[in-house]
Amino acid sequence: MSTSANRGAFIVFEGCDKSGKSTQCSLLVERLNRDGISAQLLKFPDRTTTIGKMIDSYLQQSCQLEDHSIHLLFAANRWEAMPKMNELLNSGVTLVVDRYSFSGVAFSSAKPELSMEWCREPERGLLRPDRVFYLTVGAEVASQRGDFGAERYEKKDFQAKVATMFDKLKDDSWTVINADKAVTELSNEIFEHAMNVINSAQTEKLGKLWL
Ligand code: TYD
Ligand code: MG
Repeated sequence: MSTSANRGAFIVFEGCDKSGKSTQCSLLVERLNRDGISAQLLKFPDRTTTIGKMIDSYLQQSCQLEDHSIHLLFAANRWEAMPKMNELLNSGVTLVVDRYSFSGVAFSSAKPELSMEWCREPERGLLRPDRVFYLTVGAEVASQRGDFGAERYEKKDFQAKVATMFDKLKDDSWTVINADKAVTELSNEIFEHAMNVINSAQTEKLGKLWL
Protein backbone atom coordinates (compact mmCIF):
# COMPACT_ATOMS: atom_id res chain seq x y z
CA MET A 1 0.00 0.00 0.00
CA SER A 2 1.37 3.37 -0.94
CA THR A 3 1.33 5.90 1.88
CA SER A 4 1.28 8.84 -0.52
CA ALA A 5 -2.29 7.96 -1.46
CA ASN A 6 -3.42 8.68 2.10
CA ARG A 7 -4.75 12.10 2.85
CA GLY A 8 -3.98 13.95 6.04
CA ALA A 9 -6.56 14.48 8.75
CA PHE A 10 -8.18 17.82 9.39
CA ILE A 11 -8.31 18.42 13.13
CA VAL A 12 -9.70 21.59 14.70
CA PHE A 13 -9.30 22.80 18.27
CA GLU A 14 -12.06 24.98 19.68
CA GLY A 15 -12.81 26.47 23.06
CA CYS A 16 -13.05 29.76 24.86
CA ASP A 17 -10.10 32.14 25.17
CA LYS A 18 -7.36 30.82 27.48
CA SER A 19 -8.62 27.24 27.42
CA GLY A 20 -5.14 26.03 26.41
CA LYS A 21 -5.81 25.46 22.71
CA SER A 22 -2.64 27.05 21.36
CA THR A 23 -0.38 25.14 23.77
CA GLN A 24 -2.08 21.85 22.98
CA CYS A 25 -2.05 22.45 19.21
CA SER A 26 1.71 23.03 19.25
CA LEU A 27 2.37 20.03 21.47
CA LEU A 28 0.29 17.80 19.22
CA VAL A 29 2.06 18.88 16.03
CA GLU A 30 5.48 18.38 17.66
CA ARG A 31 4.52 14.92 18.90
CA LEU A 32 3.09 13.83 15.53
CA ASN A 33 6.16 15.03 13.66
CA ARG A 34 8.42 13.27 16.16
CA ASP A 35 6.49 10.07 15.49
CA GLY A 36 7.01 10.45 11.74
CA ILE A 37 3.52 11.72 10.93
CA SER A 38 3.55 14.74 8.71
CA ALA A 39 1.55 17.47 10.46
CA GLN A 40 1.30 21.21 10.27
CA LEU A 41 -0.10 23.86 12.60
CA LEU A 42 -2.45 26.54 11.32
CA LYS A 43 -4.44 29.11 13.19
CA PHE A 44 -7.42 31.34 12.61
CA PRO A 45 -7.48 34.23 12.44
CA ASP A 46 -4.35 34.13 10.28
CA ARG A 47 -3.15 37.61 11.17
CA THR A 48 -0.41 37.64 8.52
CA THR A 49 -2.59 38.22 5.43
CA THR A 50 -4.06 41.56 4.31
CA ILE A 51 -7.47 40.55 5.66
CA GLY A 52 -5.78 39.15 8.79
CA LYS A 53 -4.16 42.50 9.49
CA MET A 54 -7.56 44.19 9.55
CA ILE A 55 -8.81 41.52 11.94
CA ASP A 56 -5.74 41.98 14.12
CA SER A 57 -6.27 45.70 14.53
CA TYR A 58 -9.93 45.08 15.34
CA LEU A 59 -9.02 42.54 18.02
CA GLN A 60 -6.39 44.82 19.49
CA GLN A 61 -9.09 47.48 19.68
CA SER A 62 -7.13 49.89 17.51
CA CYS A 63 -10.03 50.13 15.09
CA GLN A 64 -13.80 49.77 15.22
CA LEU A 65 -15.64 47.65 12.63
CA GLU A 66 -19.35 47.05 12.19
CA ASP A 67 -20.35 43.61 13.59
CA HIS A 68 -21.53 42.03 10.31
CA SER A 69 -18.51 43.40 8.53
CA ILE A 70 -15.93 41.92 10.93
CA HIS A 71 -17.79 38.60 10.83
CA LEU A 72 -17.39 38.45 7.06
CA LEU A 73 -13.69 39.30 7.33
CA PHE A 74 -13.13 36.34 9.69
CA ALA A 75 -14.91 34.09 7.18
CA ALA A 76 -12.95 35.54 4.25
CA ASN A 77 -9.75 34.85 6.17
CA ARG A 78 -10.70 31.14 6.12
CA TRP A 79 -11.77 31.13 2.47
CA GLU A 80 -8.45 32.59 1.41
CA ALA A 81 -6.69 29.66 3.12
CA MET A 82 -8.77 26.95 1.37
CA PRO A 83 -6.57 26.28 -1.67
CA LYS A 84 -3.48 25.79 0.50
CA MET A 85 -5.30 23.64 3.06
CA ASN A 86 -6.83 21.46 0.38
CA GLU A 87 -3.46 20.90 -1.21
CA LEU A 88 -1.75 20.06 2.08
CA LEU A 89 -4.46 17.60 3.17
CA ASN A 90 -4.47 15.87 -0.20
CA SER A 91 -0.70 15.58 -0.16
CA GLY A 92 -0.90 13.66 3.12
CA VAL A 93 -0.27 16.41 5.65
CA THR A 94 -2.41 16.38 8.79
CA LEU A 95 -3.60 19.87 9.69
CA VAL A 96 -3.97 20.87 13.31
CA VAL A 97 -5.99 24.06 13.28
CA ASP A 98 -6.29 26.45 16.21
CA ARG A 99 -9.90 27.77 15.88
CA TYR A 100 -12.14 27.61 12.83
CA SER A 101 -15.68 28.42 11.70
CA PHE A 102 -17.15 27.37 15.05
CA SER A 103 -15.29 30.23 16.74
CA GLY A 104 -16.48 32.40 13.87
CA VAL A 105 -20.13 31.59 14.56
CA ALA A 106 -19.87 31.36 18.37
CA PHE A 107 -18.14 34.72 18.89
CA SER A 108 -20.23 36.67 16.39
CA SER A 109 -23.57 35.19 17.41
CA ALA A 110 -22.78 35.95 21.06
CA LYS A 111 -23.39 39.57 20.01
CA PRO A 112 -27.05 40.48 20.44
CA GLU A 113 -27.75 41.63 16.88
CA LEU A 114 -26.32 38.64 14.94
CA SER A 115 -28.23 35.36 14.66
CA MET A 116 -26.53 31.98 14.50
CA GLU A 117 -28.16 31.25 11.14
CA TRP A 118 -26.88 34.46 9.58
CA CYS A 119 -23.41 33.82 10.97
CA ARG A 120 -23.26 30.30 9.52
CA GLU A 121 -23.96 31.36 5.92
CA PRO A 122 -20.52 32.67 4.88
CA GLU A 123 -18.90 29.55 6.41
CA ARG A 124 -20.93 27.12 4.31
CA GLY A 125 -18.85 25.10 1.88
CA LEU A 126 -15.51 25.52 3.62
CA LEU A 127 -13.65 22.25 4.20
CA ARG A 128 -15.24 20.31 7.05
CA PRO A 129 -12.90 19.11 9.79
CA ASP A 130 -12.75 15.37 10.45
CA ARG A 131 -12.92 16.13 14.15
CA VAL A 132 -13.25 19.05 16.53
CA PHE A 133 -11.54 18.83 19.90
CA TYR A 134 -13.48 21.11 22.19
CA LEU A 135 -11.45 22.11 25.23
CA THR A 136 -13.46 23.17 28.25
CA VAL A 137 -12.26 24.97 31.37
CA GLY A 138 -14.29 26.80 33.98
CA ALA A 139 -14.68 30.56 33.38
CA GLU A 140 -12.83 31.23 36.64
CA VAL A 141 -9.81 29.20 35.55
CA ALA A 142 -9.67 30.90 32.13
CA SER A 143 -9.92 34.45 33.45
CA GLN A 144 -7.00 33.81 35.82
CA ARG A 145 -4.66 32.68 33.03
CA GLY A 146 -1.99 35.06 31.70
CA ASP A 147 -3.01 38.06 29.57
CA PHE A 148 -6.76 37.50 29.82
CA GLY A 149 -8.57 40.76 29.22
CA ALA A 150 -6.00 42.27 26.86
CA GLU A 151 -8.01 41.81 23.66
CA ARG A 152 -11.56 42.40 22.57
CA TYR A 153 -13.90 39.55 23.67
CA GLU A 154 -11.72 38.58 26.67
CA LYS A 155 -14.39 39.35 29.23
CA LYS A 156 -15.93 36.79 31.50
CA ASP A 157 -19.59 37.43 30.71
CA PHE A 158 -19.00 37.51 26.94
CA GLN A 159 -17.00 34.26 27.13
CA ALA A 160 -19.91 32.65 28.98
CA LYS A 161 -22.20 33.56 26.07
CA VAL A 162 -19.66 32.18 23.62
CA ALA A 163 -19.62 28.90 25.55
CA THR A 164 -23.43 28.68 25.20
CA MET A 165 -23.08 29.14 21.45
CA PHE A 166 -20.38 26.45 21.20
CA ASP A 167 -22.77 24.09 22.97
CA LYS A 168 -25.38 24.73 20.29
CA LEU A 169 -22.90 24.07 17.49
CA LYS A 170 -21.69 20.75 18.88
CA ASP A 171 -22.45 17.61 16.89
CA ASP A 172 -21.11 14.05 16.82
CA SER A 173 -17.92 15.14 15.08
CA TRP A 174 -16.90 16.88 18.32
CA THR A 175 -14.90 15.40 21.16
CA VAL A 176 -15.37 17.37 24.37
CA ILE A 177 -12.22 17.34 26.46
CA ASN A 178 -11.97 18.63 30.01
CA ALA A 179 -8.84 20.80 29.79
CA ASP A 180 -8.70 21.62 33.47
CA LYS A 181 -5.70 19.34 34.09
CA ALA A 182 -1.90 19.22 33.82
CA VAL A 183 -0.50 20.12 30.38
CA THR A 184 1.29 16.80 29.85
CA GLU A 185 -1.60 14.65 30.95
CA LEU A 186 -3.91 16.59 28.64
CA SER A 187 -1.52 16.38 25.68
CA ASN A 188 -1.21 12.59 26.06
CA GLU A 189 -4.97 12.27 26.06
CA ILE A 190 -5.27 14.48 22.97
CA PHE A 191 -2.57 12.54 21.14
CA GLU A 192 -4.55 9.29 21.58
CA HIS A 193 -7.67 10.92 20.16
CA ALA A 194 -5.69 12.44 17.28
CA MET A 195 -4.20 9.09 16.25
CA ASN A 196 -7.67 7.61 15.94
CA VAL A 197 -8.78 10.51 13.78
CA ILE A 198 -5.70 10.28 11.55
CA ASN A 199 -6.22 6.55 11.01
CA SER A 200 -9.90 6.74 10.18
CA ALA A 201 -9.61 9.88 8.02
CA GLN A 202 -7.55 7.95 5.47
CA THR A 203 -10.58 6.02 4.28
CA GLU A 204 -13.02 8.93 4.38
CA LYS A 205 -13.55 11.71 1.87
CA LEU A 206 -13.06 15.30 2.94
CA GLY A 207 -16.42 16.99 3.39
CA LYS A 208 -17.82 20.49 3.12
CA LEU A 209 -19.09 22.40 6.13
CA TRP A 210 -22.83 22.97 6.68
CA LEU A 211 -24.00 22.00 3.19
P1 TYD B 1 -7.08 33.85 19.43
O1 TYD B 1 -7.07 32.42 19.08
O2 TYD B 1 -7.32 34.18 20.86
O3 TYD B 1 -5.76 34.50 18.98
P2 TYD B 1 -4.45 34.64 19.85
O4 TYD B 1 -4.11 33.26 20.29
O5 TYD B 1 -3.47 35.23 18.90
O6 TYD B 1 -4.79 35.53 21.00
O7 TYD B 1 -8.20 34.53 18.51
C1 TYD B 1 -8.50 35.87 18.57
C2 TYD B 1 -9.95 36.17 18.91
O8 TYD B 1 -10.76 36.14 17.74
C3 TYD B 1 -10.62 35.27 19.90
O9 TYD B 1 -11.23 36.08 20.90
C4 TYD B 1 -11.72 34.59 19.12
C5 TYD B 1 -12.01 35.54 18.01
N1 TYD B 1 -12.50 34.93 16.76
C6 TYD B 1 -13.67 35.39 16.17
O10 TYD B 1 -14.36 36.26 16.73
N2 TYD B 1 -14.07 34.88 14.97
C7 TYD B 1 -13.35 33.92 14.33
O11 TYD B 1 -13.74 33.48 13.22
C8 TYD B 1 -12.14 33.44 14.94
C9 TYD B 1 -11.31 32.40 14.26
C10 TYD B 1 -11.76 33.97 16.15
MG1 MG C 1 -6.46 35.32 22.38
